Amino acid sequence: MEQEAPAKTTEGAQEVTLRPFDLADVDAMMAWVSDPEVTAFMTWDPYTSREALLAFLRDVALPHPWFRAVCLPGGDRPVGSVSVSPTADACRAELGYVLARAHWGKGVATAAVRRAVAAVFGEVEGLERLEALVDVCNVASQRVLEKAGFRREAVLRRYCVVKGAVRDMAIYSFISTDALLV
Ligand SMILES: CC(C)(COP(=O)(O)OP(=O)(O)OC[C@H]1O[C@@H](n2cnc3c(N)ncnc32)[C@H](O)[C@@H]1OP(=O)(O)O)[C@@H](O)C(=O)NCCC(=O)NCCS
Repeated sequence: MEQEAPAKTTEGAQEVTLRPFDLADVDAMMAWVSDPEVTAFMTWDPYTSREALLAFLRDVALPHPWFRAVCLPGGDRPVGSVSVSPTADACRAELGYVLARAHWGKGVATAAVRRAVAAVFGEVEGLERLEALVDVCNVASQRVLEKAGFRREAVLRRYCVVKGAVRDMAIYSFISTDALLV
């Protein structure tokens, strides 16, 4: 699970848009959910079937309260997703994001997270805290959160099992009064 830093450009990243998913996004989405490198740090296994992904879109993504497609400037084909999921407490929600490998290293995820943070506190009633749990080895994801203004709070040791291995997770938060870094 070691990560190599990608070559970097920032072209167009600031202009990403977020929109709700549609069933017609299934083929675009397959590009990232079927990639074992993309899903290495995720609790779920890569998708191997279009039908299973369609069922996920229909049963989970479309009814989800805040599950958005990340689109690049001038395009409507999603290249990733960003979600804000409710927790047991209405004041707290969990941020998740994933991007197709072809678009890594260009600032796209950071731009998408910034847009999500800028929107959700006004859109989700009662929300005070957005949190994200990141594998300590997922350096790129930790960097995304830091660039967007999240605060690293702790490392949760031996916190969860991902693909059969017990992992340490860093917990990050952004609260409603924090300053969004742009
Ligand atoms: C994590 C992920 C969303 C990042 O997307 P991205 O668009 O490439 O992210 P950005 O370009 O906005 O920022 C990545 C940052 O990490 C840095 N980075 C990437 N790999 C790195 C590495 N191995 N070591 C150090 N820094 C690294 C980049 O240089 C960049 O930082 P910089 O702008 O200061 O140079 C993407 O890699 C992904 O989808 N991964 C799989 C899913 C995932 O892990 N989701 C998060 C679960 S918590």
